[in-house]
Amino acid sequence: MRIKTFVLALVATLICGAELSAQNNNITPAPVRVYGGTCSDSGCMPAMPFDFSQLSTLCIKGVKGADMERIAAAVKAAGLDLKLVKRPSVKSCVNIYINPDSMSFEEGYAIVTSERCVDITARSAAGAFYALQTVRQLVESGEWLTGAIVDYPRFEYRGVLIDISRHFRTVDFLKRQIDMMARLKMNRLHLHLTDAAGWRLQIDSYPRLTSFAAWRKPHDWKGWWNGDRKYVDEGTPGASGGYLTKAEARELVAYAADRYITIIPEIEMPGHSDEVLAAYPELKCSHKPEYQGDLCIGKEATFEMMQAILDEVIEIFPSEYIHIGGDEAGKGDWKLCEDCQRRMLQEGLESVDELQSYMIHRMEEYLNSKGRQIIGWDEILEGGLAPNATVMSWRGEEGGHIAAQAGHKVVMSPHGYCYIDAPQDAPYSQPESIGGYLPLEKVYSYEPVPESMPEEVGKYILGVQANLWAEFIVEDSHYEHMLWPRAIAVAEIGWSEPENRDYTMFRERAVKIVDRMIEEGYTPFDLKNEIGNRPESKEDVEHLARGKKVTYIEPSFYYAPKYAAAYDATLTDGKRGTWTYADERWQGFLGRGGVDVIIDMDEVTTIHSISADFMQICGPGVFMPCLVEIAVSEDGENYTKIADIEHEVIIDELPSFKSFGWEGEIKARYIRYKAHRSKYTGFLFVDEIVVK
Ligand code: ACM
Ligand code: ZN
Repeated sequence: MRIKTFVLALVATLICGAELSAQNNNITPAPVRVYGGTCSDSGCMPAMPFDFSQLSTLCIKGVKGADMERIAAAVKAAGLDLKLVKRPSVKSCVNIYINPDSMSFEEGYAIVTSERCVDITARSAAGAFYALQTVRQLVESGEWLTGAIVDYPRFEYRGVLIDISRHFRTVDFLKRQIDMMARLKMNRLHLHLTDAAGWRLQIDSYPRLTSFAAWRKPHDWKGWWNGDRKYVDEGTPGASGGYLTKAEARELVAYAADRYITIIPEIEMPGHSDEVLAAYPELKCSHKPEYQGDLCIGKEATFEMMQAILDEVIEIFPSEYIHIGGDEAGKGDWKLCEDCQRRMLQEGLESVDELQSYMIHRMEEYLNSKGRQIIGWDEILEGGLAPNATVMSWRGEEGGHIAAQAGHKVVMSPHGYCYIDAPQDAPYSQPESIGGYLPLEKVYSYEPVPESMPEEVGKYILGVQANLWAEFIVEDSHYEHMLWPRAIAVAEIGWSEPENRDYTMFRERAVKIVDRMIEEGYTPFDLKNEIGNRPESKEDVEHLARGKKVTYIEPSFYYAPKYAAAYDATLTDGKRGTWTYADERWQGFLGRGGVDVIIDMDEVTTIHSISADFMQICGPGVFMPCLVEIAVSEDGENYTKIADIEHEVIIDELPSFKSFGWEGEIKARYIRYKAHRSKYTGFLFVDEIVVK
């Protein structure tokens, strides 16, 4: 752990009480230290319930103007209705002292609660604001004790990405999420403003971005994506979409700033730009007129446009960082485009990766010249990272680690932990989604700085971010369901020291927060009703075929290399799959056949049941078999069929899991299990053939 010095004379003199477990209270994210009881010249007192209803006045020292108003508003939001006074008092008063010399952490704070008053010290207005979020939680819990709390964040960047391209969301919706983020001491809202599905920010110099590229006919992304992927003019009957006007975006920026949250706008380039090219086709690569998603890097007009857009963006968003995307460009069109090829020749670029890197470098130079910094997805490493760029690591952790080693700042949002568009509970109980399984516990288990990382590398990791992509999220209520409570886990990863993090205790606090959110009209996932992981997946399953040899009958029935799991051992290794086929426990079969295997039990054995589970998730093309045949043999040559199980495969939005098996009594050494794929093209996934 990084050593942090914390100088706070006030707390030092008042604290002598015992340290309470940081978890032993109602504060989320878990604070650094909580002490019970206080001391004064006349002796020490143990922790006692604090009666906050006797508080009557508020004194704020060390800030003026907007910060003063923000802090006064946060006191009120904490449930304390106090009269603002000029002088601190030792009786019935909340005294807030903001003093840059009081401690070494920009966002840190201390709260000392004696019998009669509350003294809050912070280095910055943001720190005082966070102290008041803690106070709010103490008030709400009804369990505020006398003592002291000393607290500061582990990471400076504690973020959430909200995607308003795939489905547009209103300012009011965004404000509601900002409110919740602030209560959890999060401080960055990354707004994904542009993508193929729609451009969502007014840009005066390129009006077709919002008069055309912000609108489509199918309201839901899935209908649009699987349909014609076209845009329509604003005002067309039946058009769906929208965008933030500049006034709205400014209003949002101010609202967030009042809660010490910085909004980082993302303007995607050069990939994920289908909507830009639909509105301004002259920026397509020159070799073909039809559908393209990558901006042409050969044309100067592309740079003129992006710079003009960024000029307007930085006028609205004062954030140090401007996110320029950089992910998932197809790059294929650049190989065929004469403008791109000319650019590569002129600039001595040897690959299309270097061509993308050329663009990102130019954008960085441009934004740096305006006093801003770029942040981009980890693909910006390919072809050479721009000198001052910050990397957002999403494809895993490696990109972030490489960037940090090279001395670049990094925000970690690896999809395995931070992509909260995956279902958070048994997939059949959850709305349709992109697939996978990412429960609260898995999110919470994320550690942004591995223990093995040297301190001089770890210091480049600025923090962590939850990303909520919205392809499958049409309704606001669904969006909140996906966001909360998993974003609470990310808030705690970003704020709390590892030694103060404990999932069992966190979950108890998260359940209470969720209950309160529901009372307040939010629609989070109701954590107390969590089903949890697939029952048998938690422990290995003992059965007669465990560890027995499995032979795959012919190559066309072989498993796909990407979903090999434990290779030939998978189907009898005793490991059941979880709710996701990507867990290296499910084996995936893609070929024209299906599954066709023989298990050798080593000797003739009395068998009472044979079964295997399959899953169906139609979105990514995972289907049940239409027929399962089971046959047995004593000699490995003459087989007797014992089961013929037909199944009608029905396309459904919700994932399902189903067993296909036989029960009875029979003696056999060899078991042949054959599952036929249905007429639907896709995978069969099976995790274990259980023999009892
Ligand atoms: C991403 O998920 N393509 C950043
Ligand atoms: Zn081109």
